[in-house]
Amino acid sequence: MESEAPAAGRRAAARAAAAFRTAGYTRQGLRAALGVGGDVIARRGHRPVALRRLGDSGPLPVLARLFLLETAVPADEVERTLGTETLAALDDLRLVARDGGSFHGTVRLVPQGDLLIASDLPDAGEPIDHVAGVHRPSVTLSDLTVRRPVSRALDLGTGCGIQALLAARHAERVVATDVNERALAFAALNAALNGVENVELRPGSFFEPVAGETFGLVVSNPPYVISPETAYLFRDSGLGRDRVSEELVGELPGFLEPGGFGTITVSWVQEGDDPLATPRTWVAGSGCDAWLFHTATEGPLDAAAVWNLDREGDEEAYAAAVDRWLDYYRSEGIERLAYGALVLRRRDGDPWFHGRELPDRERQDSSAHVLRLFENADRLERHAADDALLGASLALVPGAVVESRARRLEDGWEEEWALGLAEGIPFMAELDRFTASFVAALDGSRPVGDVLAELAAASETPPERLREPGLRVVRELLELGFATVEAEAPRTA
Ligand SMILES: C[S@@+](CC[C@H](N)C(=O)[O-])C[C@H]1O[C@@H](n2cnc3c(N)ncnc32)[C@H](O)[C@@H]1O
Repeated sequence: MESEAPAAGRRAAARAAAAFRTAGYTRQGLRAALGVGGDVIARRGHRPVALRRLGDSGPLPVLARLFLLETAVPADEVERTLGTETLAALDDLRLVARDGGSFHGTVRLVPQGDLLIASDLPDAGEPIDHVAGVHRPSVTLSDLTVRRPVSRALDLGTGCGIQALLAARHAERVVATDVNERALAFAALNAALNGVENVELRPGSFFEPVAGETFGLVVSNPPYVISPETAYLFRDSGLGRDRVSEELVGELPGFLEPGGFGTITVSWVQEGDDPLATPRTWVAGSGCDAWLFHTATEGPLDAAAVWNLDREGDEEAYAAAVDRWLDYYRSEGIERLAYGALVLRRRDGDPWFHGRELPDRERQDSSAHVLRLFENADRLERHAADDALLGASLALVPGAVVESRARRLEDGWEEEWALGLAEGIPFMAELDRFTASFVAALDGSRPVGDVLAELAAASETPPERLREPGLRVVRELLELGFATVEAEAPRTA
């Protein structure tokens, strides 16, 4: 089944976007109007309350009913509230359809940061070319994207275009590809709604449309789900098991300029207890350094349940889908499914691989933090020797936060400390009394060895007893980007 995609006339898009802006159709405005704290997309069951809270006077409630709450609005109310010019623009863009005496929205429109993003309405029996909105993996990908100025960027599998529009802010030109023509129509509409003019849309499968080209940045949130189906282009690659992730990770380095970064969301069949093992083999010999952020590992039932939530409304269909997926996982011997985002950087020489669990806590744009992780990993490779680390001057990064708390014991209180970051990736490290005083003294003014000597003197501890724990802390601080090297040890001849 194919449904009509919206159009992308620039003048009409500018007119419509101005109407949304003037109405206060922003994340903040909608949260306040809907009385919600987080996501502005209410689940269907919450609609009656959302509609009552919203009221019905003014442009914001009308736009929210049409484009968020999937509620028809009487035609005369739409015209009176939004004005004929705005209504004509919405109509030109095919964002509204008339149904007897009322209008309904044909798309969902959600503010993402300061962008307005259109996607298909969620619908039972969604067609294969359904264009999804911005989801958690989209946000994980965009948060972990390195946002340096580049001349050319590629967004592979652009869907609604969110990654391309974000990349367009720091790339002179962005090429956005998708095999789904409706997705390209949505991406074009979203570019027009947001006044973005440096995104070129190309139809075709994976890297086919950019054969022979290279980019300073590649981003991709591909259909990585390990799935037995080919029901949705946005979810199912049809390649079986985790082949789509493996193949794209294998090909991506060939499309990067030297020094270029690529960020891709991936999924893999986890064998054994080390969640990082499989992607590590994918990047071996790729000519790229790699940082893997492991987001989750789940069992077959959880995967089958979550990836079929669209069928939740029909219990029988949902149960049948879950069973079909479980059968597939069983027949393939898949017991654990892992997810993550992989950041690659093309570089000559011996590449390194680092990886950690991505904490499931609120996170903002982490570009600066990701760059720091790469820079620190380079240093750890170059200066692996203990003496080099002891001779380096380390400083905690601005925004590092040390929290202390006290735990009541039978016979008194025990103090505990945790190191975190106010910005970037919300890594945390537990500290004890020694490590807390050690990190607090790291201000970049003197070598690590001197800081350890001071602490040893102050606590009347033999200095050699602090060497190993100190070095462990230094490696961890650099590994997780809590600290930077302000000065290196002078090289000895
Ligand atoms: C999970 S969605 C990601 C959309 C968007 N980039 C984001 O981050 O939210 C995956 C996208 O990949 C597209 N896709 C699926 N198979 C593809 C293929 N063979 N070549 C290119 N794109 C493909 C889908 O149409 C869909 O738009």
